[in-house]
Amino acid sequence: MSVKQSFIELPLDLDQQRIPRHVAVIMDGNGRWAKSRGFPRIIGHQKGVDALKNLLRCCDDWGIEVLTAYAFSTENWGRPSHEVEFLMTLFERVLRKELAEMMAENVKIRFVGDLSALPTSLQAEIAYSMEKTANNKGIQFNIATNYGSRQEIIHACKSIASQVQQGKMELEDIDEKLFENHLYTEGLISPDLLIRTSGEMRLSNFLLWQMAYAEIYVTPTLWPDFNREEFHQALLNYQQRDRRFGKLSKT
Ligand code: IPE
Ligand code: IPE
Ligand code: MG
Repeated sequence: MSVKQSFIELPLDLDQQRIPRHVAVIMDGNGRWAKSRGFPRIIGHQKGVDALKNLLRCCDDWGIEVLTAYAFSTENWGRPSHEVEFLMTLFERVLRKELAEMMAENVKIRFVGDLSALPTSLQAEIAYSMEKTANNKGIQFNIATNYGSRQEIIHACKSIASQVQQGKMELEDIDEKLFENHLYTEGLISPDLLIRTSGEMRLSNFLLWQMAYAEIYVTPTLWPDFNREEFHQALLNYQQRDRRFGKLSKT
């Protein structure tokens, strides 16, 4: 394996051999961040974009292969309409503004979730960004938008059931591998590390199947304040874990 020049930037106390391949993040606490400063909640979302950009760059610098960020859940439609509309417009604006830079940095973008329910102008921007970056060989950046694990699992079940019904597949053909191929995350490795900000210790319907063996790290820091040093702490903590996968420890 050729040593990526950027590994040089890896903090000395991190073990290059034990860097997670796939990091997932629940970017939580934007509203509280804004409220604590006397701002409307949407200012927190706006600030949160910078934190995500910084994390993406950091993951790329430190040799992480895949970053998946939870941007909007299937349950988030239940928020006041002005907040939902602000978020949809924000996603579209950020995507348009950042695409050139992501191209320059060789980032491969993918959106996971039920995209058909998003505003059509956002869907067009999403399709363009995925198509444009499809052959990029750098970090894989997944954005979970209108994503909910339960919805994803039902979607996979229906798709498999329909193939069985049409005689294209046998019941016996269904196994874990096949099921994974019907999820929005088809072809991606499972997350090794999940980070959730704002201190909440729950999954909130995020990658339930995929995170069966992810290590979970929760920090009280609110998402807009999550930075390189915070990420460094998360990785240090991750590297101390003994990932047994149900077996016995090697030591
Ligand atoms: C996370 O921040 C962003 C989204 C869910 C879109 P929140 O908006 O949930 O912020 P809090 O949890 O209310 O502080
Ligand atoms: C999870 O955060 C969803 C995203 C970060 C996009 P929420 O703020 O929606 O989760 P709950 O409601 O606290 O569980
Ligand atoms: Mg929240």
